[in-house]
Amino acid sequence: MSNRTFTMIKPDATAAGNTGKIIDKIIEAGFSIKAMKWTKLSLADAQKFYEVHAERPFYGELCEYMSSAPIVAAILEKDNAVESFRKLIGATDPTKAEPGTIRAMFATSIAANAVHGSDSDENAAIEGSFFFAGRELA
Ligand code: CMP
Repeated sequence: MSNRTFTMIKPDATAAGNTGKIIDKIIEAGFSIKAMKWTKLSLADAQKFYEVHAERPFYGELCEYMSSAPIVAAILEKDNAVESFRKLIGATDPTKAEPGTIRAMFATSIAANAVHGSDSDENAAIEGSFFFAGRELA
């Protein structure tokens, strides 16, 4: 169990003006922000970030979508961060996400599902270091 996870607020949510509301939900849930940036992925960046999904049928659509508009990347801290954050965001498919979760409130489809949350401590560290150097953590 680690106390850090990595998230992205995805293009659908930044474009819809939901960035501030989602950050509020994250802070209200007890996460502290260790690093955060507003940025835009190139197609090559998205392909690299999601290369573990390269064989999946949705990989092309996912990478096009993730590079279509700005995102917010962040490293978050809380006890049991990975599991706790995945509970806060809800199921990947927003039609299956529990009421009150971030995806239930803000996601519009499986692809445009408002936020990313790391699925393991190992991936949280890999994904966080994709966007941030160690010196950028506060
Ligand atoms: P994320 O948590 O960012 O990690 C992988 C992403 O792939 C996932 O959120 C979804 O946005 C996306 N994804 C998963 N399944 C599908 C699917 N069936 N169709 C389109 N995108 C998907």
